[in-house]
Amino acid sequence: MGVFANEDQESSGHEQVVFCHDKPTGLKAIIGIYSTALGPALGGTRFYPYATEDDALRDVLDLSRGMAYKNALAGLDHGGGKAVIWGDPEQIKSEALLRAYGRFVQSLNGRYYTACDVGTYVADMDVVARETRFVTGRSVVHGGAGDSSILTAWGVFQGMRAAAEHLWGTPTLAGRRVGVAGLGKVGKVLTRHLLDDGAAVVATDVSEKALAWARETYPQVDLVADADALIASDIDVYAPCALGGALNDDTVEVLRAKVVAGGANNQLAHPGIEKVLADRGILYAPDYVVNAGGVIQVADEIEGFNFERAKLRANRIYDTTRDILRLADAEGVPPAVAADRLAERRMAEVGRLRTIHLS
Ligand SMILES: NC(=O)c1ccc[n+]([C@@H]2O[C@H](COP(=O)([O-])OP(=O)(O)OC[C@H]3O[C@@H](n4cnc5c(N)ncnc54)[C@H](O)[C@@H]3O)[C@@H](O)[C@H]2O)c1
Repeated sequence: MGVFANEDQESSGHEQVVFCHDKPTGLKAIIGIYSTALGPALGGTRFYPYATEDDALRDVLDLSRGMAYKNALAGLDHGGGKAVIWGDPEQIKSEALLRAYGRFVQSLNGRYYTACDVGTYVADMDVVARETRFVTGRSVVHGGAGDSSILTAWGVFQGMRAAAEHLWGTPTLAGRRVGVAGLGKVGKVLTRHLLDDGAAVVATDVSEKALAWARETYPQVDLVADADALIASDIDVYAPCALGGALNDDTVEVLRAKVVAGGANNQLAHPGIEKVLADRGILYAPDYVVNAGGVIQVADEIEGFNFERAKLRANRIYDTTRDILRLADAEGVPPAVAADRLAERRMAEVGRLRTIHLS
């Protein structure tokens, strides 16, 4: 590993891509730093058994770029970065491997802060933290922010309220029917906020355990067979909270909701879907804007975690979503395009300030 023969990186605009290899532990990691214009890059570590090194590289390049946009619109003083560890966590994750990884993170001397992602957990970050200061998303007993899905769900709820206000004139989901696809960490907490607000919830999950939880905890939630049944049902809002790609040519065509706002990353299956949604009169609150509560939560830990402060920052997802929807109307573009423009504007305008020399 460690070959920079790939054209992807040359054309991707990344500042730095670091290949890390520690043979005895089996660690093969790639750290992607897209931009530090707004501050140290921040983004999680995905531990995943990619088929090839190219797949791992492509993923880290996409993910780190996405984090730059997410962090910019979350109002954070952080640039965008992400890391991938190539391998099956079930087979190779060990204390030594995680600590080796931590030493590579430390070697970047604060240009990149890591955190959890698919395949890595709060307990893993506690181990990584034994080798580096530049890690967040640790457990509460270690002074960390703990489970980031709490503020992710809260932020999604704020973004959904902003979309409701934009479309229906009032910032509430009361009396609306909201479809939640995926009752995992984010979907469960989101369901609670929605019910508290007076919405009716219809939900689905592929896991029998998640469905049993819903029957037991919230018997008033309507459960349907699958995501296809959910999107075809009579819902006002669709909240994808499972995997990426929920909005594709097939689903958008039959979707009955007027608003989409959910926690899942990468909801748009391919470029152009944002336009199809707009043409069908469906208001899409961009995923990376409304699901930024988690990164806001873990970024707060870097200052010494304070839940109330982090929650106040996550509240701003309401204003950001509202501004994006208004800008989209004003500029005649889909909200996803307006969001990208706002993020790029902040990276350029605030990033430029670093050219003012400080002694
Ligand atoms: N946890 C966070 O802080 C956070 C932050 C930002 C974005 N996200 C994104 O939000 C989404 C959910 O994250 P999470 O932490 O709740 O994950 P999770 O693994 O706890 O929950 C995902 C749930 O979706 C279900 N699911 C999977 N495929 C499904 C399908 N086809 N139909 C219906 N349900 C399905 C799973 O059974 C599971 O219950 C992911 O896309 C994640 O990347 C999470």
